[in-house]
Amino acid sequence: MSIQITPAKKLFTLHTAHTSYQMWADERGILHHLYYGPAIGDDDLRPTEFYSDCGFSPNPAGVEVRDYSLDTMSQEYTGCGVGDYRISCLSVSNPDGSPLADLRYVDAKVLPGKYALPGLPASFDGDDDCQTLQITLKDAVTGLTVILLYGVFEKADFITRAALIQNGGDAPMQLHKAASACLDLPFGKWELIHFHGRHCMERQPERAPLPFAVQTLRSARGASSHHHNPFAILAAPHTTEDAGDCLGAMLVYSGNFKIECEVSQLHSTRLVAGISDDDFTWTLAPGETFTTPEVLFSYTTNGLGELSRQYHRFLQHSVIRSSWKERPRPILINNWEATYMNFDGERIYAIAKQAHELGVEMMVLDDGWFGERVDDSSGLGDWWVNEEKLGCSLSDLIARIRGLGMQFGIWIEPEMVCYGTKLYAEHPEWVLSAPGRTPATGRSQLVLDMGRKDVVDYLYGIFSALLRDNDISYIKWDMNRNITDLFSRALPAGRQGEAAHRYMLGLYDLLERLTTQFPDVLFEGCSGGGGRFDAGMLHYFPQIWCSDDTDPIQRLKIQYGTSFGYPPCSMGSHVSASPNHQTGRHTPLSTRAVVAMAGAFGYELDLGLLSDEEKAQIRTQIETCRQLQPLLIDGRYDRLTDAMTDTYFTAWQFTAPDASRAAVSLVVVDPKPTPWPIHITLKGLDPEAHYRDSRTGKVYTGAALCHAGLTLPILAGDYTAVQILLDRVDPE
Ligand code: GLA
Repeated sequence: MSIQITPAKKLFTLHTAHTSYQMWADERGILHHLYYGPAIGDDDLRPTEFYSDCGFSPNPAGVEVRDYSLDTMSQEYTGCGVGDYRISCLSVSNPDGSPLADLRYVDAKVLPGKYALPGLPASFDGDDDCQTLQITLKDAVTGLTVILLYGVFEKADFITRAALIQNGGDAPMQLHKAASACLDLPFGKWELIHFHGRHCMERQPERAPLPFAVQTLRSARGASSHHHNPFAILAAPHTTEDAGDCLGAMLVYSGNFKIECEVSQLHSTRLVAGISDDDFTWTLAPGETFTTPEVLFSYTTNGLGELSRQYHRFLQHSVIRSSWKERPRPILINNWEATYMNFDGERIYAIAKQAHELGVEMMVLDDGWFGERVDDSSGLGDWWVNEEKLGCSLSDLIARIRGLGMQFGIWIEPEMVCYGTKLYAEHPEWVLSAPGRTPATGRSQLVLDMGRKDVVDYLYGIFSALLRDNDISYIKWDMNRNITDLFSRALPAGRQGEAAHRYMLGLYDLLERLTTQFPDVLFEGCSGGGGRFDAGMLHYFPQIWCSDDTDPIQRLKIQYGTSFGYPPCSMGSHVSASPNHQTGRHTPLSTRAVVAMAGAFGYELDLGLLSDEEKAQIRTQIETCRQLQPLLIDGRYDRLTDAMTDTYFTAWQFTAPDASRAAVSLVVVDPKPTPWPIHITLKGLDPEAHYRDSRTGKVYTGAALCHAGLTLPILAGDYTAVQILLDRVDPE
C-alpha cells in the first residue's frame, strides 16, 4: 500500500519505491509535516521531544504550553495570521475583513487512482498504480475548508500535491494567496538550484546555499517566462550529478507563479509553491471552490542526474498526453530563419523540395502566411490565408508539399492581436486593457483576454476549422509577448485580481478542446522560443521550441539547463545557418547537427545555399538522427560535463533502457594550445557487457568505459564536435 494511515495516531505515511513522506495530525488538529526523504519503512516519526520555547513565537489560543507554536512547527499547509510568521500558503479576507485562517484537521480518505484538477493540466496514472490521499482541514470560525490532495506514484517515486480551497461560510470571502503546497524540511542544510534567464538565453542553472532569508522565484509576466522557470531543486551541499540527496518541486502551471524558500530562525527550510499572489485576488462565494495548480515532488539520494531522469520519465509517462510522446518526431524544415516573412508559395515549395531531396519529412510554414502580415507590426488576429502573398491557396500549397511525400505544419499565435486588424476593429474589448489608458505593446502586439469565454470560443472556431479544412500534421503555437495592462472588460472592478489566472484557465480550455479534437496533430509550444517551457504546456504539447537562440554553442547551456527538469525529446532544436543569426558566430554544420540532435530535431535555414558536400552531410545527419531518436524517447540521459563551468568541452550521453546502445556527443567550446587530453567517463552502461566504439571500432567493457573512460584525439579548430555510438557486441 502506498498510503498508510494509522487512525489511532492520525499518522499518514506515503510510500514510493525509494522514498517516504510522513504527516501527523496532533490532538489540537495541527497537521505536522514529519519527513520527506529516503524510504524509512513503517517507522513512526512523531517527535518525543517538542520544540523549545521560542521567544516571540506565539501559542495558539487555548494552548498553555509555551513551547507549542505554529511559528516553529513543520506543517503541511499553513493558515494565515494566527502565529506562523514564515511565508504562508494562504492570505484571506474573511467576510468580516479579518485576515485570519486557522486550519485544523477534519478527516482523511484514500481514493483509488489519481485525482484530477478541473480546468487545469495535471499528472495522470499511466502504467503506475497511483493512489490519492485527501486530507481536509478547516477553520472553525469561518468554515473555510482546505482539501489537500496527494497523488502517490509508487513506481515513479513521485508525490504530487494540490489544494482545493472552499468557502464553507455563508458570505463571500477573498483569497489573496492560495498556494498549491508547502514543504517544510525540519532538518538539513539545502542549496537552491533554479533556472533563470532571458529571451534567447533561457534556463541557466544557478546554485547557492539558502540564506536565512526568503528567496523568491517568480513570474509576473502572464507566462511562466524566459526569466524564471517554475521548477526548483533543493540539494544537500555536496550533491553531485551522481550522488547525494536532492528533491525537485515543479509546478504544472504556465502563468504567474511563485516558488518561495525560507530558512527559519530554527534552521528549518520551508518551500511554498503556487500561483503568484502578486496582483491576485479571487472572490469565493459561499460553497465555491478554488482549485490550485499541481506541484510535482520527487526525491532521490542518487544525485542530480537521477533526479532529472525521474522527472524525464514522469513527464513522459504521466504528464504529457500526446500520443507523439512515444513516437520519433518527423524531421522538419522550418522556413523562419530561411526567409523570415519574406516568402511566397513558390519559395516555400522550393525549400520543401530541396529539403525533401535530402531526407527531411515535414515542411513547417512559420509566421507571415495570414492577414496583412507584412512584418511583425501587423496582421495577428486576422487568420485568413493571404493568398495574394502566397500566390496560391493554402490547400494548394499543402497539396504540392504533400505531393512530394512530405507532411505539412504551420505556425499560429492565437492569443494575440495587432492594431489595424479586422479582429481588433470588431472587438477592441477583447484586448486586455483598462478604460482610459492605451495599453503597452510588445512586438507591436496586444494580448487577447483569454479569460473570456467568447474569445476562447471564437479562437476554437478559427483554429479547429484551420485543422479540419487542411491537411495539417503539426502546429507551432507561439506567444510572442508578455502581459501588461491586466484588466478584463468582462470582469467587474472588484474581480480584476482574477484576470491573470482566468487567462490561464481560458488558454487551457482552448488547448484541451483542440488537442483532444485533433489527437494526431503534433503540437509544438513556443513563446519567443522557451518563454513558456513548463509542465503545464507539456501536458498538451509534447515538445516546445527551446529557445529563439539557435547558436549551437549557446544552446549547449540552454539545453543543459533545460535538461534538469525536462526530457530532451521535449526540446525543439534546429540546425540553422552559419554565421548564426542571433550571435553572428561561425560553427561547423556537423556541430550544429550534433547539438540539435539532443532534442526534437529539424532544420531552419535555406538548404539551397549549401554546397554539395554540405548537402551530403545533411543526408548522413538525418540517418544518424533516425538512429538516435529511439534513445531520446525512452533512453536514459546523462550530463557528462557541467556546461556552465567546464569551459573546454561539453558532453552528454543517451543510453537505451536495456543498455544495449549508447550515444555520446561532445562539443569543444574552447580549443586549447598545448591541449590536455579530452577524456570522458561514460555512465549507465552494463559493466559486464562489451561495447564497440563506432569511431575506432575498438571493443571495451561497460566497466572500462564507465571507469577508465575514453580519451579522444585532440580536436582542434572552431567548435569541433564528435558523436560516438556504442553498440553492445558479443565478446570477441
Ligand atoms: C517567435 C518564435 C520564432 C518564430 C517567430 C515568428 O519568435 O520563437 O521561432 O516563429 O516568433 O514571428
